[in-house]
Amino acid sequence: MTETNHISRVETARPNSESVVIFDTTLRDGEQSPGATMYLEDKLQVADVLDAMGVDIIEAGFPIASVGDFEAVSAIAERAKNAVIAGLARAIEADIARCGEAVRKARRPRIHTFVSTSPIHLQHQMNKSEEQVLEIIARTVAQARNLVDDVEWSAMDATRTPIEYLCRCVEAAIRAGATTINLPDTVGYALPSEYEAMFRTIRERVPDADKAIFSVHCHDDLGLAVANSLAGVAGGARQIECTINGLGERAGNAALEEVVMALRVRGDAMPYHSAIDSTMLTRASKLVSAVSSSPVQYNKAIVGRNAFAHESGIHQDGMLKNAQTYEIMTPASVGVSKTSLVMGKHSGRHAFKDKLRELGYELGENALHDAFVRFKDLADRKKIVYDEDLIALVDDEIVHAHERIKLVDLTVFAGTKGPQSAALTLEIDGVRVTHQATGNGPVDAIFNAIVALVPHNAVLELYQVHAVTKGTDAQAEVSVRLAEDGKTVTAKGADPDTLVASAKAYIASLNKLMVKRGKSQPGVLAG
Ligand code: KIV
Ligand code: ZN
Repeated sequence: MTETNHISRVETARPNSESVVIFDTTLRDGEQSPGATMYLEDKLQVADVLDAMGVDIIEAGFPIASVGDFEAVSAIAERAKNAVIAGLARAIEADIARCGEAVRKARRPRIHTFVSTSPIHLQHQMNKSEEQVLEIIARTVAQARNLVDDVEWSAMDATRTPIEYLCRCVEAAIRAGATTINLPDTVGYALPSEYEAMFRTIRERVPDADKAIFSVHCHDDLGLAVANSLAGVAGGARQIECTINGLGERAGNAALEEVVMALRVRGDAMPYHSAIDSTMLTRASKLVSAVSSSPVQYNKAIVGRNAFAHESGIHQDGMLKNAQTYEIMTPASVGVSKTSLVMGKHSGRHAFKDKLRELGYELGENALHDAFVRFKDLADRKKIVYDEDLIALVDDEIVHAHERIKLVDLTVFAGTKGPQSAALTLEIDGVRVTHQATGNGPVDAIFNAIVALVPHNAVLELYQVHAVTKGTDAQAEVSVRLAEDGKTVTAKGADPDTLVASAKAYIASLNKLMVKRGKSQPGVLAG
């Protein structure tokens, strides 16, 4: 191993390093993560950040899945400035036509179509023979190619497909006009050496393999998604499919921030580079975490809150002498700034805006105004407002901005002399409604009032309270997960009053559930 590369900002590519394109699927595979449903407005914000940070291809959704997905893909296609905009389609005529329509307005549209190739999927899921699947590939890729010039074809469950048959499938797809061939490790089963070898063999054996770009798409069921992605690149792939924070089906996908920083920091050993502005990684991570209600684990590589924290005395001592003793990249290189300007009730709008920018938030004028009003209110109730308080406040603002059901007023009667009760006023699609309910404790009373005002059969699967900072005046962050007909949604609510935060979280989950109900998932789900 050579000396570490202590980078401080976006690096220019090393000589002789080859370019790898970054395909982000946070808005498609990421949104398939349990509970991670996003609103249209949130998806637009995420897409804007991905586009601005240099993502080459944004997979904006699965247009046939729901009207909401179609609208999100079309809207992103229309506004993206640089990135190729892709939509996903099964190998079905109607899917491909719908996808073509959704990406039509993109400056650079792509249709991404997939079909399973492994024996287990052919037999149990598709009930098709190998020959039938080969015919489907040729027909559907050709259909997509008639609609757009840029067609990606994926062999679902490629890593459990016999190599001879996989070669025939890839050959059929290239012959029909596919320009990118993606070989996913759909179930996160492969080992890095196997994945690398698969790409080498396919590229050696398939005629005209050099006419297409090969792509990796790895799931993290064994914690190998990033390692496998890098191994695939070593085997000749030049596109990496990944998601912010590693969001995705089951254990998730390869994390974009990890593959990007691995290529950047270890460019000495892996002569490949991406076009990503790494200083935007923290901001993208925070935004995706907020809008998908998916917290980032504290010790997550690159974007976890402990990723640059040094606890032991020996480490702190080393860091003071030379940061390279215990850091292989600078916090600034991934967008973490060390300066900590503590906010209080005398802080002005300008300092507030600067602070938010430092934390990775760039709000529009209206959102900034609303957040500032809430900050002043919080600063009145709490002496010191910490970074964590601001993050909770702004995330809350972003997440609740587009909701159909809004909390207007809540009064709770609690204590030792029951029954505990809650008087709640909500605004539902602009109409105010009020209800008073009792319950076994104040939270139960609040939730009963919500159920009375918004009748539903969803089951409460999780209710969790977490203090954002230390102290009895800390803000409470409540998470609520609801399940209905096999669909789950998770949402958060933050407020210095735990009961208000509880009401907000429950209401936010109901709002997300309404979005999820609109998604008529196609029979065969993508991985
Ligand atoms: O994991 C997978 O196989 C997928 C495909 C749809 C590309 O997500
Ligand atoms: Zn996948």
